[in-house]
Amino acid sequence: MALERRRLVVGNWKMNASLTANTALLQQLAQADLTGASCDVAVCVPFPYLSQVQLALTETTLTWGAQDVSAFDKGAYTGQVSASMLKDFHCTWVLVGHSERRQYQHESHDEIAQKLVQALKLGIRPILCLGETQSQYEQGKTLSTIEHQLESLLAVDPSLRSNVVIAYEPVWAIGTGLTATPEQAQAVHEFIRRKVGDNLILYGGSVKPQNASTLFNMPDIDGALVGGASLSANDFLGIIHASHME
Ligand code: PGA
Repeated sequence: MALERRRLVVGNWKMNASLTANTALLQQLAQADLTGASCDVAVCVPFPYLSQVQLALTETTLTWGAQDVSAFDKGAYTGQVSASMLKDFHCTWVLVGHSERRQYQHESHDEIAQKLVQALKLGIRPILCLGETQSQYEQGKTLSTIEHQLESLLAVDPSLRSNVVIAYEPVWAIGTGLTATPEQAQAVHEFIRRKVGDNLILYGGSVKPQNASTLFNMPDIDGALVGGASLSANDFLGIIHASHME
């Protein structure tokens, strides 16, 4: 398969980490032989561990990022973390609009758009997470939901849009063990592709070493956003290696 876009596999640790657990995981990732890997690899970690991750991965080919960023530059926003703070820790990436934040923090469309703008202004590449809920899926509203969520991109200067990575994560597949079939995922990716062109489009939702290669074989799936399986070095490396096998 001729693929010009280089694949990307991103771990999303969510709120699972500790100094001790991270040390072991990062050591295994840093020591893994990724020479010749046919994908880029990154981890998005909780804010307090950015310094630890930076220290552990600086001399490797892996990159890192955060799981959220403030919609504001700076000021009286207790508890928030700005894009310039992420830049201080050399973040390459930041997740924006993850479904868990849309659901629990009630992140609005405008807020998500502003977060994209803030990240890009500092040269941090946002990974814009999209996806329909189970009930939207059951009502046949997958594509209209995605189309609406993609409108956040309109806030972004067109010259910067190619730096945005899209992650399609059906909410019903996150952490549930249910995955969209490769064909189902491909159909949505193709829809997104028609809207965004050559941007990287990752799939997320219960990606495991066992299902990764069939997903990666789909023409519009450019990699994965991996939650649970990114907490185990073996599983995460298994997914990375699956990207070589075709
Ligand atoms: P999961 O999470 O791999 O545990 O389903 C994916 C995500 O929410 O990014």
